[in-house]
Amino acid sequence: MDYTVQPGDTFYLIAQKHGLSLEELQQANPQIQNPTLIFPGQVIKLPDKSRPQSYEKYRVDEPYPEIKVLGENPYYAQLLYDDYAGQVSELTAIMQYVHHHMQMDTHPAWSEVAALQEGISIIEMKHLEMLGETILLLGGNARYWDGCQQPWTPLYVSYHDFDFCAQLRADIQAEEAAIHNYRNHIQQIQDPYIQALLARIIKDEEHHLRLFRDSLAKHCGG
Ligand SMILES: [Fe+2]
Ligand SMILES: [Fe+2]
Repeated sequence: MDYTVQPGDTFYLIAQKHGLSLEELQQANPQIQNPTLIFPGQVIKLPDKSRPQSYEKYRVDEPYPEIKVLGENPYYAQLLYDDYAGQVSELTAIMQYVHHHMQMDTHPAWSEVAALQEGISIIEMKHLEMLGETILLLGGNARYWDGCQQPWTPLYVSYHDFDFCAQLRADIQAEEAAIHNYRNHIQQIQDPYIQALLARIIKDEEHHLRLFRDSLAKHCGG
């Protein structure tokens, strides 16, 4: 859809008026090099919000393996519960990134990182689902608790209220810790189907790590 810029419009105001993020509007108008230099009468594109936003760029372009296990195994389920809903887990990542997304989205200068946080949290939800399905196949019930049946708690979230650089650093730490734990569990779980799943998830986490590190370098000087 086309939109004609009105006097007093800024990219940010136009995005707000149409329920878009600044990043969505910028992505729909790659021809505009400097979004602060728009003038009344200029025609820009409004992205079609009826099409769902694509989160593909927040995951590695490689299919996920089939969710499968060699057989029921309570010990393997116990290990996976930590990745699923323990302190360093997909559930913690989802909650932390959505929180950071909401706070960053209140500051126009951070809208790009806010969109990144949202997109990555959606991919973590996919990881959570695949781990939960694997736990069910292993004979578990996929409740939100860790391998010691400690229920998940919001105390696991690194909030760092409105300190966006501290939030990004916490997110980088979370991805590093997740990769470390998945690598350990690949060693401990002698089931090729689960090993393939964890190896595939690690690729996404490494991608997230790169995206978060790039944002940190861009917005916080490293
Ligand atoms: Fe993940
Ligand atoms: Fe991740």
